[in-house]
Amino acid sequence: MDLKIFVFLSWSIFSFFLLDVAHGDMSYSLPEEMKRGSVIGNIAKDLGLQTGALTTRRARVDTEKKDKRYCNINLKNGELVVAERIDREELCGEKASCILKQELVLENPLELHRISLHVQDINDNSPEFNEELINLEISESADRGARFVIEEAHDADVGQNSVQQYSLEKNENFILAAKGNTVELVLDKELDREKQKEIHLLLTALDGGSPQRSGTVVIHVTVLDANDNAPVFSQAVYKASLPENSPLDTVVVTVSATDADDGVNGDVTYDFGHVTDEVIKTFNIDSKSGEIRVTNFVDYEASVTYEIRVKAKDGLGLSSYAKVIISITDVNDNAPIVSLKSLTNPIPEDTPAGTEVGIINVQDRDSEYNGQVHGSVQQNVPFKLVPSIKNYYSLVTTGNLDRELVSDYNITITATDEGSPPLSSSETVQLFIADINDNPPVFKEQSYSAYINENNKPGSTLCSVSAQDPDWRQNVCASELFYINENNALT
Ligand SMILES: *[C@@H]1O[C@H](CO)[C@@H](O)[C@H](O)[C@H]1NC(C)=O
Repeated sequence: MDLKIFVFLSWSIFSFFLLDVAHGDMSYSLPEEMKRGSVIGNIAKDLGLQTGALTTRRARVDTEKKDKRYCNINLKNGELVVAERIDREELCGEKASCILKQELVLENPLELHRISLHVQDINDNSPEFNEELINLEISESADRGARFVIEEAHDADVGQNSVQQYSLEKNENFILAAKGNTVELVLDKELDREKQKEIHLLLTALDGGSPQRSGTVVIHVTVLDANDNAPVFSQAVYKASLPENSPLDTVVVTVSATDADDGVNGDVTYDFGHVTDEVIKTFNIDSKSGEIRVTNFVDYEASVTYEIRVKAKDGLGLSSYAKVIISITDVNDNAPIVSLKSLTNPIPEDTPAGTEVGIINVQDRDSEYNGQVHGSVQQNVPFKLVPSIKNYYSLVTTGNLDRELVSDYNITITATDEGSPPLSSSETVQLFIADINDNPPVFKEQSYSAYINENNKPGSTLCSVSAQDPDWRQNVCASELFYINENNALT
C-alpha cells in the first residue's frame, strides 16, 4: 500500500505520518499528552475499507498482553482516537524511542493488524538537580586547573528536550567544564582562605526544548586548609543479574571505592546518586559496605533492567560516581490467560463440520518460552481449536451435531505455556445446539380403528390418536381428536 501522509492541523508543529501499511502493520506518530478523543489517523481509509465494514466486521482495538488500551476506533467514521492519557515519560522513561503496540482485530474473516503508536516527546519536564544545595569543601592549596565533579541535572524528557547545556553564574574563582554527562567546576583563580572562607555559586541546567526550561542548584564552597583526594570506585560500571521474584534482601552487587586520604578524609560512604523512584522502591545501598540489596519483588514483565547511579563520598564531601546495571531475568511466573473473543451461541444442529463458531485469544505475560502458549480443547467433543493469526484460535466444529442426541456441550479450552515447569489455565463455555425441524412426527400406532354406531349425536368423540416429534417446542405436534360434526361428516 502507498505511503500516506496526514497532517493534523490543530497541532501545527507536529505532523502525523502514516509510516507503513504493509503486512497488516500500521504505524502512526503522535505527540504525548494529547486530549482523549484526539484523532490519530483513519483506520478505514488506511486499510481501504468502507466505514460500514468496520461495524459488520466488529473492528476493535485489542492490546498486547495486559497493556492498557490507548486508542479506540470510531466505528462511524473509521477514525483512530486517543482513549487514555499517553505520558511518554511514564511509559518509556529514558528510552529514546517510545512505541506503543496495539492490535486491530477484524472478524469475518479474522484479521489482525498491528498498530504501532510512535509517541513523540514534548518538552513538559524541566531539568532538575538531585539536590537543592551542593556542598563542596576545597583546600586553599588546590592548584589552578583543579577539577571538582558536580552531579549532573536530569530531565525526564528525551533528545533535544533533555538537558543540553549548563551555565555558571559569573564569579572570581571558578569556570565550568561540561561535556556530555560530566559537569565539573574548574579552579581558574586560586583560593585564599584568609580572603574568603565561603563561596556561593549558582549553576543552571538548560534543556533544548521550545520553550526552553531550566533548573538550578546552589553550590556552596567551603575553603579548607587541608589536602584532600576524592574517593575512586574500583569499576566505572558494575553489572549484575537478578532473577525476578528473588527473595527480599538478596545482595545483588557490592560496589567499592577507596580514598587515598587518611582519617576522616578517607572514610568512604555510599549512597544512590540520581535514581528513579522505581529504583528507590526496589533497592537500597548500605552506606558503609556498598552492598546493594533488593527490597521489593522485581517483575521482569514490568522492568527488564535497572540503571543505578551510585555515589561514594569521603568525610570532607568530595564525591565520585559509578553506574550499576542490574538485568532482571525471566521466570515462568505467569499462567496463560484464555479469553473468548466471540462465540456464536447457540449454533443450529445442521451446522456443517468445519464451521468456525468462536474466536479465542491466549496470552501470557512471560517472555520467550515462558510466554509461548498453545491452546487445545478436550478430546470427547466435536470441536477443535485451529491456530489462526498470532495468539488467536478459531473454535471449529469437527462433526455432525444432533440436538436430539446432545443438546449442549461444555467445551474446555486449555492454554499451556512452554515454560519449565509449564503453567496452564482453562476456560469452559457451554455451547447450546439449536433445534431445526429435522424429524417428522411419528404416530404412536401404525393404524387406528374405530366403530361408529348409527344415529350418533354430533360432537361425540370417536377416538383419539397421538403423534410425537423429538424436535423442540414448535416442532412438537399436538394430539388431535376426531369428532362427528352436525352434518354427520367425519372431521
Ligand atoms: C454443562 O455444564 C452445566 C453447568 O455446569 C451443566 O448444567 C450441564 O449439564 C453440562 N452439560 C453437559 C453436556 O455436560
